[in-house]
Amino acid sequence: MARPQCDSTHAPFEVLLQQLLQLHTQRCRCRRRRRFVLLGVFVLLLLLFITLLQIFMPARPGPDTYWQQEFIGSVNNASIRNHVFCLTKEPHVAGTPEDFATAEYVFQRFQDYGLSAHYTDYDVLLSYPLHRSLILSAPTKEPLVLSLKEKPVEGDVYSSNPKVMPTFHGFSPSGNVSAEVVYANYGRLEDFQKLENLGINVKDAIVIARYGLIYRGDIVENAALAGAVAVVIYSDPQDYAANYTQGVYPYGRWLPPSGTQRGSVYKGLGDPLTPGWPSTPDAERISLTDPETMLPTIPSLPISAEDALPILASLSGPTSPAEWHGALDLPQYRVGRGPGALNFSFSANQTVTQIRNVIATIKGAEEPDRYIILGNHRDAWVFGAVDPHSGTASLLEVAQRLGELVVKGWQPRRSIVLCSWDAEEYGVVGSTEWVGQNIDLLGINAVAYLNLDACVIGPGFSAGVSPQLDGLLQEVTKQVKDPDSVDDTVFEAWIASGKGSAPLIGRLGGGLTDFAAFLQHAGVPALDLEFGDDNPMYHSVYDNFNWVEKFGDPLFHCHVAVTRLLGLLAMRLSSDAVLPLDYITYATELQSYAMQVQTQLAQCKAPSVSVNPLISAISSMKEAAIQIKQQAKQPQGSLSPSAVLRRRFVNDRLLQAERAFLDDKGLTGIGQSWYRHLVYGPVRENVYGTYGTTTFPGIQTALAQALAESNEHDNDAKRRQWAAVQHEIWRVARVVERSALVLQGSLT
Ligand SMILES: *[C@@H]1O[C@H](CO)[C@@H](O)[C@H](O)[C@H]1NC(C)=O
Ligand SMILES: *[C@@H]1O[C@H](CO)[C@@H](O)[C@H](O)[C@H]1NC(C)=O
Ligand SMILES: *[C@@H]1O[C@H](CO)[C@@H](O)[C@H](O)[C@H]1NC(C)=O
Ligand SMILES: *[C@@H]1O[C@H](CO)[C@@H](O)[C@H](O)[C@H]1NC(C)=O
Ligand SMILES: *[C@@H]1O[C@H](CO)[C@@H](O)[C@H](O)[C@H]1NC(C)=O
Repeated sequence: MARPQCDSTHAPFEVLLQQLLQLHTQRCRCRRRRRFVLLGVFVLLLLLFITLLQIFMPARPGPDTYWQQEFIGSVNNASIRNHVFCLTKEPHVAGTPEDFATAEYVFQRFQDYGLSAHYTDYDVLLSYPLHRSLILSAPTKEPLVLSLKEKPVEGDVYSSNPKVMPTFHGFSPSGNVSAEVVYANYGRLEDFQKLENLGINVKDAIVIARYGLIYRGDIVENAALAGAVAVVIYSDPQDYAANYTQGVYPYGRWLPPSGTQRGSVYKGLGDPLTPGWPSTPDAERISLTDPETMLPTIPSLPISAEDALPILASLSGPTSPAEWHGALDLPQYRVGRGPGALNFSFSANQTVTQIRNVIATIKGAEEPDRYIILGNHRDAWVFGAVDPHSGTASLLEVAQRLGELVVKGWQPRRSIVLCSWDAEEYGVVGSTEWVGQNIDLLGINAVAYLNLDACVIGPGFSAGVSPQLDGLLQEVTKQVKDPDSVDDTVFEAWIASGKGSAPLIGRLGGGLTDFAAFLQHAGVPALDLEFGDDNPMYHSVYDNFNWVEKFGDPLFHCHVAVTRLLGLLAMRLSSDAVLPLDYITYATELQSYAMQVQTQLAQCKAPSVSVNPLISAISSMKEAAIQIKQQAKQPQGSLSPSAVLRRRFVNDRLLQAERAFLDDKGLTGIGQSWYRHLVYGPVRENVYGTYGTTTFPGIQTALAQALAESNEHDNDAKRRQWAAVQHEIWRVARVVERSALVLQGSLT
């Protein structure tokens, strides 16, 4: 039997209608045809419906400010609070099933909000604790076994959750050692220098140091350089508990005596086994013992103030300098060595583990290939209600509210990409792998990267910003109400908190968080937003929902403010016809850094080192910045195709000018070519320092070395060091000159 033919696949609508009318009188010999007819009717009704919808609900094209007002009004503290609550029910260290559950939560929300989302996974080295013990074995008669435990506190169910991973240092090697103890203050190079001056031998000792001024990975490295065999790092009440003069949690916002700061002690960024290339499942991997992994060489453990007290009390030897004294209940902080001694034991499981980034996109209508990237990490050492989920909740709220605007007819000109990173806590792993994998497209297309991490700790706005974004940030802070004043804007409160008439803007020099790969490796302008300063609960079990509700941000108003700021920044960067990037501000900022270098050189009477090449490059850049600002002024409204292309060319140069600060040899002075940005980056003592910013890191590193050498008597060595300073000045001058050429936009 021949199959019935269906021939009306291209029938016009009139024919379809006729067929519909005949449907009851004339039996269709063809089922497929009937189905097709029904489909046609459906399409017709749909078209009718859409037409009616357009008549009765005209899409409001509206100026950008209309959409911005809509967005500001839509941000909701209850939904933000709900995200924080849902994401922090269980501890979720990177690579654990609970961490994957948070990825699913974020993925589902992105989808609910109408964004297209996907996972990007990597296989990276992570480490988990298997065994820990710390025993004070001398001079006490009875050995004292230290608890290494954070205590449950009243009214906080989180603090007694049995799934909390034991306190440890990520990537610490395993090791069992017994040795006398030496106290080394904050564990800076200068602290070890002081110990040497006091005649204290650190070789084969266990160092006890306190957290607070430098990255913990540097404390461990400095101790290893001094010959120590293991390190314990504790949180002194002076640094984390207001000297115990105010309430500690649960009675106040400060760290209780058993509170312990976990954290990574790894000195690199990204997966240690795939340095410089993406850690896909079948990628090349170096050996765990390769020094290129930058993994620590001696074991370490974080401990509480409570556990540190008997250790410090067991030390004799010289009284430490006054500034080494913390706020523990001790008559003196003595440095040792000994007689107190520790039996230290730690073993870890270091294993290649899957991690998961979640990426969502709102596609741009006119320039979908241009990206405004928003990001924040999702893994936490424990519950992470502040770090990172104050950020995740804000990111999700931005996703939801922008998604709603899209439904109402808003279209960003450029694409907005929202990223939820994994394994940030182990060494900014998820974002670094992703940036490495996408470096070429990001290099061509990324406009800016907007980061949140622990973005709500308490009241008081602050930000770290690439200077061409200063003006934009100030504009949006004028549109948002300050959460802690009656009717000030964030901008007004921000100024009031400083000294002068302009807000105090931070820069992104060090910083162990996800902007690092974007700015310092890929040259993408970046910023990082925050309410509140120091985070006393940092990486402890008490950074949980209960603390946030009681002390961090009880009504979630700071969360609302940071969400509004992030969303407005994304809206402006994605939709302004001309990119709101101002390089005059950048050049002015560079001028002030160059002046600082000049002053430093004058103070140390540097022989024949000149800043002039740099100063002259900066003035070329400033001229080019003024020029492009003129060119960027152009008629609003609809443009001819050639005018659109001209505008795109202006935008291309604004977008590429930051890339020009990259240099492939990178920060040679600290031996890390991964850091390619010669204006902003870390120096030796402060790699990842959340503690202050370094500008012109190459110059500063060379200068520090030259000063260290200046007491030596070897004149040749001195000359070489000053020549190295001059070379670094030239290197920065050259990248600034390149930036000027990009802004000018014409070949030499
Ligand atoms: C250290 O001691 C613990 C407990 O005795 C043991 O389980 C572990 O294997 C030892 N680790 C090393 C690296 O010797
Ligand atoms: C804690 O004590 C130190 C040293 O005495 C002091 O500088 C600091 O201001 C005190 N901190 C608080 C919050 O009281
Ligand atoms: C501490 O370690 C030393 C040396 O390994 C050992 O002799 C001693 O028994 C240990 N003490 C305790 C209390 O474990
Ligand atoms: C180490 O980690 C791997 C991967 O997570 C796991 O399969 C293995 O059981 C762990 N080993 C121990 C001793 O916990
Ligand atoms: C949100 O803010 C309003 C207004 O201040 C407040 O009344 C409400 O309790 C807050 N909601 C939550 C969930 O914190």
